[in-house]
Amino acid sequence: MGNAAMHGEKEERPELSISLRAQLHALSKVDLHRHLEGSLRLQTLAEIAQEHGIDLPSYDIEYLRPFVTVTDDEPDFHRFLQKFQLLRRFYTTQAAIERVAYEAVADAAADNVKYLELRFNPVALARAQGFSLDEVTTWVCAAVARAQRDFGVRTNLILQIGRDEDLDTASYIADVALAHRSEGVVGLDLAGDEARYPARCFAAVFQRVRQEGLGVTVHAGEVGGAENVREAVELLGAQRIGHGVRAIENSEVVQLLRDCGVTLEVCPTSNLQTGVVRRFWQHPLPDMLALNLRVTINTDDPSISDTTLTDEYLTVTLAMGVTLEQIKRTIVTAAESSFQPPDERRRLAEWFRKELGLEGR
Ligand code: ADE
Ligand code: ZN
Repeated sequence: MGNAAMHGEKEERPELSISLRAQLHALSKVDLHRHLEGSLRLQTLAEIAQEHGIDLPSYDIEYLRPFVTVTDDEPDFHRFLQKFQLLRRFYTTQAAIERVAYEAVADAAADNVKYLELRFNPVALARAQGFSLDEVTTWVCAAVARAQRDFGVRTNLILQIGRDEDLDTASYIADVALAHRSEGVVGLDLAGDEARYPARCFAAVFQRVRQEGLGVTVHAGEVGGAENVREAVELLGAQRIGHGVRAIENSEVVQLLRDCGVTLEVCPTSNLQTGVVRRFWQHPLPDMLALNLRVTINTDDPSISDTTLTDEYLTVTLAMGVTLEQIKRTIVTAAESSFQPPDERRRLAEWFRKELGLEGR
């Protein structure tokens, strides 16, 4: 009860007493770009390390934090990606993999995410212990299926290929993705260092899965330029681009994105930490919205970036001047861009329009 009400006065404009954070937290959300390997709770990592005798100088989460989370690091793309290397040591058993997958969905639910596409690199989960890509994918699918029932978050999965992978492994990951479609795998992603490894080598792999009906998303236009976005769309058939913020450096690429209806998965805090932008106020998100691009707002790696989708909404509101109405529209755009069959996609977008009060607009 507020002070005014306690003193028997009429409480005016109660909506103003709801903090902006609470208002943004209460929004029903969609996250299309979230890495499972970037969504691990520190406490869980400490417990797994202790249970399995992973050799660490300390099992205290404050000791683990700087290895997992960007703290006061100088913004740098490679330093950001290095965080994933340490995390590979924690995928010790089936139980550990199932636990982190289950908790990733639980944490999304706590942030009022109602539709989630969670992506993971099966090689990253499998390699340290010699598991097969097929078995780790089965475990993640099963854990996520359980979590979505328990927490009411509709969750689908995207398998990720690292750009540094050889073509045979990439093609095999595509086969695994196709084989697990009935368990919730809906798409294929390309991630890693776009400055060093061109996407065009993987064109045939991505064209094949797209023809088979999987969704295609490619990390591009993040630390690489707009031409990488063009390549992802024209050669790989990407319907969505991870980040893509540098597309606006080239008006032809902007036009291509509009013509093809490509959706951009923007992840603001990640962009700051990888050095794509130096300050939030320099982020191109408001320009991308003004250019009528299909923009969505996502977390990328909640644990590495120490963020939630609510935090990302707060950042774009306070540091970039994005309005609540614009945020709601990005949520509907995300629902429309989900890798689901057309009927389900339409139903989901309709549900969000109603939920967010955007019907008829
Ligand atoms: N893999 C995980 N995070 C990534 C990012 N931000 N860019 C490219 N590849 C990634
Ligand atoms: Zn990413």
